Amino acid sequence: MTDQKTGGNDIVLEMRGICKSFGPVSVLRGVDLTLRRGQVLGLIGENGAGKSTLIKILCGIYPKDAGTITIDGAQADIKDAAAAQRLGVSTIYQELSLIPDLNAVQNIFLNREKAKGRGGLFNPLDAKTMREAAQKVLQDELKMSINIDVALRRLPLAQKQMVEIARTVYADAKIIIMDEPTAALEAPEREQLFSVIRTLRDKGRSIIFISHHLDEILRICDTVHILRDGNMVAEGPVSQFSMDAIISNMVGKSLKAQYPKPKAEIGGLLMKVTALSKAGIFKNISFELHEGEVIGIVGLEGCGKNEVIRSIFGSAAYDDGAIEIRGENCMIKNVKNAMKRRIAFVPGERKTEGLFLLQDVAWNTTIAALEKLTRGNTIINKKELIYTDQFIERLHTRTKGPRDLITNLSGGNQQKVMLSRWIMTDADIFLLEEPTRGIDVNAKAEVYRAIGEYLRQKKGVVIVSSEEEEVASICDKVLVMRNGEISAVLDSDMVTTEKIKYYSVKNEGALS
Ligand SMILES: Nc1ncnc2c1ncn2[C@@H]1O[C@H](COP(=O)(O)OP(=O)(O)OP(=O)(O)O)[C@@H](O)[C@H]1O
Ligand SMILES: [Mg+2]
Repeated sequence: MTDQKTGGNDIVLEMRGICKSFGPVSVLRGVDLTLRRGQVLGLIGENGAGKSTLIKILCGIYPKDAGTITIDGAQADIKDAAAAQRLGVSTIYQELSLIPDLNAVQNIFLNREKAKGRGGLFNPLDAKTMREAAQKVLQDELKMSINIDVALRRLPLAQKQMVEIARTVYADAKIIIMDEPTAALEAPEREQLFSVIRTLRDKGRSIIFISHHLDEILRICDTVHILRDGNMVAEGPVSQFSMDAIISNMVGKSLKAQYPKPKAEIGGLLMKVTALSKAGIFKNISFELHEGEVIGIVGLEGCGKNEVIRSIFGSAAYDDGAIEIRGENCMIKNVKNAMKRRIAFVPGERKTEGLFLLQDVAWNTTIAALEKLTRGNTIINKKELIYTDQFIERLHTRTKGPRDLITNLSGGNQQKVMLSRWIMTDADIFLLEEPTRGIDVNAKAEVYRAIGEYLRQKKGVVIVSSEEEEVASICDKVLVMRNGEISAVLDSDMVTTEKIKYYSVKNEGALS
């Protein structure tokens, strides 16, 4: 593979001495960055290092305090998002900016619809031309086949992302920024995205790619740029970096990116799920969870894995089947039932589902375990702060402190607060959706440590994850789902990412 070329020599973008503070907090301290034509630049760093802030400055979302930006040799004054677009800078955010009720064509042409003939706005839109142009970008440029006639809400996330990319390609963006584009994608969709990135690069477009998946950075990027505490501490061709070198630059010390399986003795039966079904969503799901055991549920988007654990938690109903906890049959109809049975759930969409956005870090950390903070009916302020400070330290959460508003934290640091909340919760069964999404290497290790602690306390953990490697390395048993059914059950000594991939798409025949 020639994935690791160093790109052309013509400089498209130069950022020099970029500084940015939020109040007294200095987030970028004189950052330089050079992007060339046809280059994929990997921008990495711990949660809160300043990656998103740097690109938000480039996109006109935040003003910079100091420094210069040059695009194609000319000094650029990027006052707002429209100015960035005019200069050919486009961003693919994780929260996509598309309109779900419109189809792909309408989204690609949103605000720049083509009219028939002369006469501008008074002419009907030329649907045929737009459709053909959209097809051309999607098929010829991006080599993607997408149903362009249905409302976008009906397409899987990965395809929506492709539509967003097609939109930037159509707008002739020369600098395409992707801030954690793969965080919510399943493995095959990531591959599709990578092939689109290669296509874009080969056509001379330049890409800034931000990810916490260091293996992806090594695979897809030409150069690596490492931010630490708002300083660019290392950069160079990807071939000069090993995984260990990247990590030690990121965290400022040497740390292994290994996540050994949490060890615990498997004990008595905690939960037995029998033939759980929900019409059209999942069917006949059965498994057992023991004390000290961690079970992974994997499968492609839409396979039903998230719905299964949400049903067990009572936040989505199931129609048929049974859930027994410690031998007792229980009807879990709502979240309250589940919590009473000492089940805890951490949703994957933490920002929309889990965080109290108007509250501070302390509130968001302790809200599920208030009994630990109360005496009689009063919450003891001091305890709240002590607990919160402990978690800030433990997960290296970057924040001004327990009283900082949660919205002042970077994406990954908000995730850490949500994780603190479940680590603090007292439950017997933990249902975790994408527990390490968006968090850096340090925090990942801490999450696995917390899981290990639970297991040793005879608790059970069910993880739904799109991180095949994570699941393969830490779970005792992995259920692979396909089209709403379990297509394979893999024991820890048998599970490999290849097998997960295989059974995610096929459930018959032998695997050689
Ligand atoms: N609007 C804001 N107000 C105050 N502080 C902010 C604001 N936006 C970001 N910060 C702070 O700036 C720092 C850098 O945040 P940024 O979002 O750039 O990090 P990041 O490198 O993208 O991290 P992550 O990997 O978690 O996404 C963080 O410590 C964050 O708390
Ligand atoms: Mg970020």
